[in-house]
Amino acid sequence: MALAGAAGAEGRNLVAIVDGNATYRGQVAQALLSFYRMVEYPDSIRAMAALGVCRPELMLISEETPVGGGFALVRKIRMRPDLEGLPIILVLSRDDAAARREARDCGADAVLIKPYRRSALIQQISALVNSQIEQSWEHLPPVQRQALKGTVEIYNSISDVIERGEPIGYANVTEACAPLVQAVNTNDFKPILNGVRDHDNYSYAHSLKVATLLSLFGNTIGLPQSEQLLLASGGLLHDVGKMSIPHEVLNKPGRLTDDEFVVMRSHVDASVAYLSLNPDIPKGVITIAAQHHEKLDGTGYPHRLPGSKLNDLARMAAIVDVYGALTDRRVYKPSMPAEKALGIMCNDMQNHLDGKLLALFREMLLDAAVDAPV
Ligand SMILES: [Fe+2]
Ligand SMILES: [Fe+2]
Repeated sequence: MALAGAAGAEGRNLVAIVDGNATYRGQVAQALLSFYRMVEYPDSIRAMAALGVCRPELMLISEETPVGGGFALVRKIRMRPDLEGLPIILVLSRDDAAARREARDCGADAVLIKPYRRSALIQQISALVNSQIEQSWEHLPPVQRQALKGTVEIYNSISDVIERGEPIGYANVTEACAPLVQAVNTNDFKPILNGVRDHDNYSYAHSLKVATLLSLFGNTIGLPQSEQLLLASGGLLHDVGKMSIPHEVLNKPGRLTDDEFVVMRSHVDASVAYLSLNPDIPKGVITIAAQHHEKLDGTGYPHRLPGSKLNDLARMAAIVDVYGALTDRRVYKPSMPAEKALGIMCNDMQNHLDGKLLALFREMLLDAAVDAPV
């Protein structure tokens, strides 16, 4: 058994590859390195033995797996009650109807045909991992379940809308965020934060966290529910421009180069451009998207706006976004405990963040006993 992946990568979903060819396994591991932890097995015997002690989030099993073949291995896994629901992608060496039928009959959730594109592999894995997480939401109370299901649905549909060059429907966004605001107002929002923690779409998970905490922030400073809804909607939409950033930059495990930083920073202008396609989107939502990376001392981006140009909305968005980024778990870092993140924000970012609002935010999180990983 060989473990691939960067040190300190705990928290990434574990994907098991079963294939007799070490070169192929290495290529797949390399392709997925930015997204998942990997474990490799050269044959079905070693895979079955290891599954008893280490359950991955997903298995990628090749049809020509040594000792019995991939179809038989999938059947064996499907007979094990302790491995119930384990998502499996069967990798076929040929594309014919009989092989696809057999894959489905033996219990595979999806198939890939060699040779496949890296993007197709990542898309398949991500969809299966997310469907497991989204199924677990069914056990939540109705309001939290609706908040998660509604927002993920709208978030997924936004990428299609953007691709077609159509405006984002704001009424759909506020409708999806309404249960979130309701949960915040009854102080029942933690299952939402916990429910999205392991979601495989980082931008969605981050945006939902920002939406929840911005709404809570609005509630804390006494804003009416209509304003909290604007904050939640702005939070959900604040990074939509990241949908145009290539995966290689967005999920790069190492440090970004100067050129890559330029690409990454372009997400702010892209967000504003997408949101501006719909004249019904409130100015406040656009301010959250446009100014969440600006800093009080004028060193932020994209416009290096001085504090005098940043209203409370921009200041609140910057605080919540920084807190979200610090406590998020990323491919290149584990999540940071809430207290540590707040310590860094209060001690090292005095020139960037509004001190008065930050003190309120800190008190709010301590009161709500919100702790990472959320
Ligand atoms: Fe951003
Ligand atoms: Fe963000």
